Amino acid sequence: MTETKTSAAIESVLTEERVFHTPAGFSEAIGGAYVESMEDYERQYQRSIDDPEGFWGEAASEFDWMRPWDRVLEWNCPDAKWFVGGQTNICHNCVDRQVDQGHGDEVAIIWEGEPMDGAPEVRTFTYRELRDEVSRCANALKKLGVKKGDIVTIYLGMVPELAVAMLACARIGAAHSVIFGGFSAQAIADRVEDARSRFLITGDGAWRRGSVVPLKENVDQALEMTDHVEHVLVLKRIGNDVDWKDGRDHWWHDVVDGESTECPCEPVDSEHMLFLLYTSGSTGKPKGIIHTTGGYMVYAALTARTVFNLVPDRGQVYWCTADIGWVTGHSYIVYGVLPNRVPTFMFEGAPNHPDPGRFWDVVERHKVTQFYTAPTAIRAFMKWGDEHVEKHDLSSLKVLGTVGEPINPEAWMWYHKKIGGERCPIVDTWWQTETGGHMITPLPGATPTVPGSCTRPFFGIDAVIVDEHGEEQPLGSGGLLAIRSPWPAMLRGIYGDRERFVDTYWKRIKGMYFAGDGARRDERGNFWIMGRVDDVINVSGHRLGTMEVESALVSHEAVVEAAVVGMPHEIKGTGIAAFCTLEPSRKPADAEATKALIKELRQHVGVEIGAIAKPDVIRFTDAMPKTRSGKIMRRLLRDIAAGVEREQDMSTLEDKNVLAQLRGES
Ligand code: WTA
Repeated sequence: MTETKTSAAIESVLTEERVFHTPAGFSEAIGGAYVESMEDYERQYQRSIDDPEGFWGEAASEFDWMRPWDRVLEWNCPDAKWFVGGQTNICHNCVDRQVDQGHGDEVAIIWEGEPMDGAPEVRTFTYRELRDEVSRCANALKKLGVKKGDIVTIYLGMVPELAVAMLACARIGAAHSVIFGGFSAQAIADRVEDARSRFLITGDGAWRRGSVVPLKENVDQALEMTDHVEHVLVLKRIGNDVDWKDGRDHWWHDVVDGESTECPCEPVDSEHMLFLLYTSGSTGKPKGIIHTTGGYMVYAALTARTVFNLVPDRGQVYWCTADIGWVTGHSYIVYGVLPNRVPTFMFEGAPNHPDPGRFWDVVERHKVTQFYTAPTAIRAFMKWGDEHVEKHDLSSLKVLGTVGEPINPEAWMWYHKKIGGERCPIVDTWWQTETGGHMITPLPGATPTVPGSCTRPFFGIDAVIVDEHGEEQPLGSGGLLAIRSPWPAMLRGIYGDRERFVDTYWKRIKGMYFAGDGARRDERGNFWIMGRVDDVINVSGHRLGTMEVESALVSHEAVVEAAVVGMPHEIKGTGIAAFCTLEPSRKPADAEATKALIKELRQHVGVEIGAIAKPDVIRFTDAMPKTRSGKIMRRLLRDIAAGVEREQDMSTLEDKNVLAQLRGES
């Protein structure tokens, strides 16, 4: 492993000894666990590895296919084709199929808005209502000229119309590219440009902790930078004034509401592109991860069902707190949940608005049974105080999940005790935008859990720890996490960049998918994720490339060179530390000017990427510590950022002694 991050925190994780077995009564409470024991898991897992085609063929046959597949899998590393020759439609399987099977009046989506002026705004959609709304939207898209194979960019807050728009695209065979509502105009322009997207769906604004995110304004600015977009569909959510470009801009209520609810689902090939989702990598440019229809559909639904133990007709309400702008929302708010006929709860708001008890108020009022969130949120709740939790009745909860970053054992224990009342299994799910669905995770009812470990691979996932040469490592030692064989929801490529796809995932360890994470497998066979081994950092569970932030910084006229590294952060897990060298004329004269420039640079990164990428710490230096070959010594910067030098609280690296010392280590 190139740069193993060892720290006291990781050491404490590795010596974790506590094991939690399925709480008594869990299976009855959840309506029957899908996987009842480790023996059952082992048996099904072995079968999935020995006979993947049999296993996945069976899983896929639960869905409606307009044309059956000829072959389950065609694998020509790194290219996988699943359910080859088959035709289906994921919107049909999420929505229409439920109506066709007599469940049209059951609740598909429950949505709650952010504002709390008196009672919160709640909307529910039955499968029939969802089918009708999706059909209207799909017809409107067709009228605007959207055709099968087009890529529609979607930039919205967490409103039900976001799910409707995605399903509408899928319904007519168009791919969507959802951009997180927190991203900036520049980020939108980059993604629209890369996807050559001609259609965009947005809103007049989005609520965010009581203030308005000006979605339309950001889009207007973005579209000054790229001229691909011909039509913009605008949802009225806030009711604020927006600029308007006649001919290009169309109100949702004008073009969708009056449409017919008749819109047949377009049969698409199993390998037809379902969506693009941009994510950060080691270079400055985000990459468009390609997911296709059939394999993703089967995998997202089976993982959602098994990992959260979704059982219809048992009063379950499933809530994933992620934003749909990330893969977690794609797979575990929309596509994986709807086929399982358990209502998926969508929340527009933030955990601490209007107060830090909002999530628990939601759980209590909606009787949420499965709750899925990120460790960063759990750490924030811990900090805000138990009283916000204790005020609420959380007894409806049955399964808890986490995702996005390693969870520290203290946060795990708090989640287990305070939120789960010691009766809810915790599923710590390791996966990625690229994997499409859960890869390594406990199964509630079966897997004994250990705080901080994501435990065992899901069915069909041949996960291994290897060294740089692809040699499998013995239990107990660390290395690179790799996947040895294909799985249905794996990425099919990076949009428009075959070489980057091959280089990033398939070159480093020959014949295997390289995930970019370091990990260790303990003597019990449990996996422990140690974090990224590339230049990607997980800030509050959001994935960012350090080079992306560096590019944003150097695009400011004061900055000559920038180096960005992750640093431990109490709440975010990883914070962002930036070291910058400045134009001589822009060097701040005093502390006041330093502060002002730091503020300006943080703002600048916010404009270039989005608020999530603003560095927590910015330090100015005369020179970067570099190796003789001119490479920035990131490991050293990481140590400095982590506070190795904290006592001295160096605000610069100019100290010649320090630099000499640094150079001495090159
Ligand atoms: C990290 C999010 C530890 C990991 C679904 C991975 C995790 C990256 C976990 C992908 C977990 C995700 N434990 N680390 N349970 N889940 N990660 O693409 O570093 O936004 O490579 O997908 O998040 O982030 P992405």
